[in-house]
Amino acid sequence: MSARQPSTDFTRLAQYPGSGCEKYDRRGEIFSRDDVIPLWVADMDFPAPDFVTEALAERLADGAFGYAKPTSEHVEAITGWLAGQHDWPVGPETIVPVPGVVPAMAMAIRAFTSPGARVIIQPPVYFPFFQVVRDQGRELVENRLVERDSPDGSRRYQMDFEALEQQARDAEMLLLCNPHNPGGRAWNEAELGEVAAICARHDVMVISDEIHMDLTYPGIRHTPFARVAAAADCRWFTVTAPGKTFNTAGIGGGYAVIPDPQVRKRFDRECRGMHLGEGSVFGLTALKAAYTQGAHWPAELMRHVAGNRDRVIEAVRDLPIEPMAPEATYLLWLDCRGMGLSDAASDPEDRALQRFFIDEAGLGLSQGIIFGEPGRGYMRINLATPTRVIDRAMAQLREAWEKRMASRQRPA
Ligand SMILES: Cc1ncc(COP(=O)(O)O)c(C=O)c1O
Repeated sequence: MSARQPSTDFTRLAQYPGSGCEKYDRRGEIFSRDDVIPLWVADMDFPAPDFVTEALAERLADGAFGYAKPTSEHVEAITGWLAGQHDWPVGPETIVPVPGVVPAMAMAIRAFTSPGARVIIQPPVYFPFFQVVRDQGRELVENRLVERDSPDGSRRYQMDFEALEQQARDAEMLLLCNPHNPGGRAWNEAELGEVAAICARHDVMVISDEIHMDLTYPGIRHTPFARVAAAADCRWFTVTAPGKTFNTAGIGGGYAVIPDPQVRKRFDRECRGMHLGEGSVFGLTALKAAYTQGAHWPAELMRHVAGNRDRVIEAVRDLPIEPMAPEATYLLWLDCRGMGLSDAASDPEDRALQRFFIDEAGLGLSQGIIFGEPGRGYMRINLATPTRVIDRAMAQLREAWEKRMASRQRPA
């Protein structure tokens, strides 16, 4: 039997300078240099899979771009995907279209918490979690993750349940990042069960962001928060989207899964109050193609990403950089504290770590501290790129570090 053709060309750079994509075109603004290798924004460099681009091309050829609305086919595509990929059966009535995951979190905060209420997040975490809480006039509570040894010997983030139990007493909501960006944890059933139990005890509603749900490494499975929520009798819902998995983030569109009819009604009212519309022609086309034709794709993609992950881990083996072995996401969290370079977000004079990566190594990574204080001294690298880009980035990194070490040893 011949192997199936990959659904995309993992060697081709689909994004390029001048294409309007943030990753390339905002380099000057973010890094003060246009020529860094961009390994920051969480989207992929290679093209979306062929079954998505073909469906979009077909739709484009129609020339019909009137107002769009999800049909029962779109909803069936979603429920089929959740059942097939995640063993997560949901009824069609539970699906609520949203313009994106972060906008849905903003609406959830407005709908289900009171002005000034405390909302818990778990830093280091995807940085809009901070802003979306502040933007709604709510108070942030940081339940920081802690690094501990895992049973397999690697250091990984774990949740601080003792602190969470205390913080939940006077909070109204928890924004959960499941799987976790930037640490790459795919939270397991025991961990999520503990979250659900604590939140149920203190009537804290959980909004579970599962946008990275399909991106687990070989042998690891995503646990939907739904699996533990019912037993704990916790108030919750999940928001997710196909954009990370199929590299269609710029097209937009996502959905919430809300089994509780009361919660769904209240959320729906909030969404309608914003007059956001129900979806774009292209978002819905991409979603349907992805979810009905892409069952094989996450594994195909993550095999490529795992290869890049292994190359980075190998390349930094004798540098003072410790990658945190990820279970999910195409993002790798690098502990650079051993490099001895200072890292402060607010003081441009005190960004030695960031400046080393930009000025000496020519690399545009995400600075760890933007994910919150526990990210100080870390950098996040995006692995969803052709392998030659990763190899070039690692060569530049090694060369820059060796040069720096050599200049330190040279007598003055
Ligand atoms: C954890 C997490 N949530 C949400 C998003 C963005 O979602 P959206 O573009 O649908 O708002 C990202 C993008 O990187 C993410 O990593």
